[in-house]
Amino acid sequence: MKDKNIYILAIESSCDDTSAAVLHDKKVLSNVVATQKIHEEYGGVVPELASRAHQQHIVPVVHQALNKANIDKKQLSAIAFTRGPGLMGSLLVGTSFAKSLALGLDIPLIEVNHMQAHILAHFIEGQSDGIPDFPFLAMTISGGHTQIVLVKDYFDMEILGETLDDAVGEAFDKSAKLLGLPYPGGPLVDKYAQEGNPDAFLFPKPKVDGLNFSFSGLKTSILYFVQRETAKNANFVQDNLKDICASIQKTIVHILMDKLKKASKQTGITRIAIGGGVSANSGIRMALKQAEKKQGWTTYIPKFEYCTDNAAMIGIVGYLKYQEGLFADQGVTAKARYVLDGEKL
Ligand code: KG4
Ligand code: ZN
Repeated sequence: MKDKNIYILAIESSCDDTSAAVLHDKKVLSNVVATQKIHEEYGGVVPELASRAHQQHIVPVVHQALNKANIDKKQLSAIAFTRGPGLMGSLLVGTSFAKSLALGLDIPLIEVNHMQAHILAHFIEGQSDGIPDFPFLAMTISGGHTQIVLVKDYFDMEILGETLDDAVGEAFDKSAKLLGLPYPGGPLVDKYAQEGNPDAFLFPKPKVDGLNFSFSGLKTSILYFVQRETAKNANFVQDNLKDICASIQKTIVHILMDKLKKASKQTGITRIAIGGGVSANSGIRMALKQAEKKQGWTTYIPKFEYCTDNAAMIGIVGYLKYQEGLFADQGVTAKARYVLDGEKL
């Protein structure tokens, strides 16, 4: 028998978004995200500034999440928080806050692996593609990770392949930086790509064995391409921005789709889910939906607000762990490197 009427307050602070959410069982009542603008001017996340911004945001963000959900903190059943992986200084803010609040309210504390949360976000009530049956394949594509994961059960996952260097989100962001676009450049590349010609320029695809990825070569080839072309025409990037973005996006989407097809063939699994910030990308969303017909796949794409970092996905893991009695004690510490399939619970 599952416990009903569980209210979870979830906190996410692994990178540069401070987020708090309240869930009633699998339903999200509120999901507040404060994105830190401070990093834009530095062209990337500055860990010390991120940690300080989390400290400023966390109390108002939690208040807002409780208010929006119309819940008093005395009604909460448990507090869930991101333990890792992520930036240590950022994780510490959410971890300490969650521990103190759980202690003060005398309710259970639940630690959550951020990468598992990107995958388990599919179990939030109201996802438009429904809920995947086990086993399924999940490709987690974010600013910090690129993985293909075999999901056998909620907490039984196996990494089949991952990036050997840059994450796919970094590939988007670093390419954008080379084009003079502000951080984070991924969403901007996507925006311009939608109006450009994806066949205008050709970039090489890396040859990597098995189900692993590599994106650092692509970044270098874009750098040389931009240098070569701007030597001939100083306005090359401005004149061709949409076509360059479309061509970069097409290359990245091909790399991702090729590995997914390989993983599906290798495992015989045709239920395919994606998660993480890059799953907000229009190119990968479209390619996946096309693969439903071409490959005979059933695909699961999270709602937009559950793709990039958010506390609702931490909350659903909190709910699932609550059902299993998987609670953390007050001795729990943040874990910057927290492997998704490294330790059993
Ligand atoms: O999951 P996430 O919010 O944070 C991490 O855990 O890393 O992912 C952030 C990454 C950034 O690299 C950002 O540029 C990328 O996701 N991103 C996108 C899009 N939206 C976010 N990349 C390409 N197209 C998008 N629409
Ligand atoms: Zn993430």
